[in-house]
Amino acid sequence: MKSKFFTYTTRTLSILCRILLCATFIFSGFVKVADPMGMTHKLHAYASALNLPYSQSMLLLEFLACALGTIEFVLGVYLLLGVHRRWTSRITAAFMLVFTALTAWIYIDNPVPDCGCFGDAIILTNGQTLLKNLVLLAAALFLFYKPARIHRLISTRNSWVISIYSWVYAIVLAVYTLHYLPVIDFSAYTKGADIRGALNGEITGQKAEKLLNFYLADARTDEDVTLDILNDRGYTFLLTAANVQEADDGCCDRINDLYDYCHDHGYKFYMATGSTGKEVTDWIDRTGAAYPILYAEDTELNTMVRSNPGLLLLHDGKVADKWSNNNLPEVDNNNTTLNDITHHPITHPVTMLLLWFVVPLLLIVGLDSLWIGHKFYKHHIYVKRFKLKKIMRKKIVAGNWKMNKNLQEGVALAKELNEVLTADKPNCGVIICTPFIHLASVANIIDANIIGLGAENCADKVSGAYTGEVSAEMVKSTGANYVILGHSERRAYYNETPEILKEKVNLALANNLDVIFCIGEVLEDREAGKQNEVVKAQLEGSLFDLTAEQFSHIILAYEPVWAIGTGKTATADQAEEMHAFIRQTIADKFGAEAAENVSILYGGSCKPSNAKEIFSKVNVDGGLIGGAALKAADFKGIIDAWKA
Ligand code: PGA
Repeated sequence: MKSKFFTYTTRTLSILCRILLCATFIFSGFVKVADPMGMTHKLHAYASALNLPYSQSMLLLEFLACALGTIEFVLGVYLLLGVHRRWTSRITAAFMLVFTALTAWIYIDNPVPDCGCFGDAIILTNGQTLLKNLVLLAAALFLFYKPARIHRLISTRNSWVISIYSWVYAIVLAVYTLHYLPVIDFSAYTKGADIRGALNGEITGQKAEKLLNFYLADARTDEDVTLDILNDRGYTFLLTAANVQEADDGCCDRINDLYDYCHDHGYKFYMATGSTGKEVTDWIDRTGAAYPILYAEDTELNTMVRSNPGLLLLHDGKVADKWSNNNLPEVDNNNTTLNDITHHPITHPVTMLLLWFVVPLLLIVGLDSLWIGHKFYKHHIYVKRFKLKKIMRKKIVAGNWKMNKNLQEGVALAKELNEVLTADKPNCGVIICTPFIHLASVANIIDANIIGLGAENCADKVSGAYTGEVSAEMVKSTGANYVILGHSERRAYYNETPEILKEKVNLALANNLDVIFCIGEVLEDREAGKQNEVVKAQLEGSLFDLTAEQFSHIILAYEPVWAIGTGKTATADQAEEMHAFIRQTIADKFGAEAAENVSILYGGSCKPSNAKEIFSKVNVDGGLIGGAALKAADFKGIIDAWKA
């Protein structure tokens, strides 16, 4: 009861943590890439407070702002969909650790009034930010502890599509907004903002409070002209340049044309700058500016329009429009009306964002689900078909005694096994492969209808002066009908090459012995992902010269070397994957019928406790058992895995 409650709680908690983190990361990443200049100014404030080198390098700060926003956004998308779960949870936890430490410092030292995590969209005090980060840090650590709790919403195979799309989307958006203006203007100076209303106290709230910093003074007389400009019922163009030295003057012809146009059509035009004296004179010399100059706070100008220079259009004390220096309006003195100049966005930016991110995202995830569904369906059909074929194939449990048991012990074991299996008949083929010395005696004990007998090896020569060797013919003469060849221990310790094994296979078949042919990769091969290649080469090297008829006397045994006698079993899925590959390789060489008929056994730490699961796979037709074949009870336990 308690553990059920625990599972339910942890599952709910992980969903909550994930939602909290991905919503925060996507949102805060998005507001940064949708307004990198805002974050750049914030970073500038941090860097200046810390007196960091390069704190004045706007290009570097712009890059950092874009990078930070992009990483946050992509991490958020990864968390949402469960992409690269382990790395995502690691990076998220590291990210939160660094940023919680940073916000703790901001809280204590107060170098900037607000942290800027959500740009201008949501403004939090430093205390609120610290609290938010502590909660997020706890959530990130919770997921970091067990990343598998992040349920995947997209298959690992197709996640690269969404991965690339998120990176490209965030980077393109950041570059686009840097070049033009934020796609969604979260600042207080958004279109329609009532500056006069805020100054007169007619509107209130966090954004209205920000507008209270709006201040303009005549650069020559220092006289406050804020209300004169805001009370004007007509249109006023305000060229904003926080710092004229750094302002891009490539657009000065357009500015001057616009000024002339305003002059001729009775609209006001000013330049508002935070620079003074010589810097302004330089700008006038450089650009031929004839418009009147006003003084304003540079930080305020940076907030008004995220561009240096930028252009703000005021109408009746409200923000009517704004432009970056890269898309200033082009005017033709006679034909352009004010209506032509002001923007007419056809699609709302939020709709555009939905179209460019949410719709493709849903599309990719939807297609992926269809793909998984199709795969699942195909697999289902495949399993059904192969289950039928499996029923037809011979199921076998073979024991490999290796170099164990003296003659008396071996005879006793064979006797015991014979008794148990006579009493409770197996419903699969049973074979025991013993050392040469046991063969003749065991052949006399066992019921050949229930237990088959095999050797563990035979010579690669027919007969003659080969001291210590036992030929295939001799094996056959003991009453044995099988022989194991190609076992990894013989390949490794007795240097049996594919060529030698080919000779042995041919001699065994010529003497009417069926061959249990072993194949399997070592650990390094598996770690290098070369298991298929290795196994295929072993098959090709020793069996591919056989005829289809000869091949029908072969039983294959897949034994991953790293699983033999180590207690480490391949998972049932790993075994199935390899068995399916082996069957396909056989089909390619000997045809579909041969492939469907060949029994493929699994070997390597097979025990009564895991046999059932392994044997349940459609391409696994039984096992070749080492250690567990030395005790009748264990061996019987594995044989019984075939019983329902
Ligand atoms: P094991 O050996 O079952 O002891 O791992 C299998 C084999 O080598 O055939």
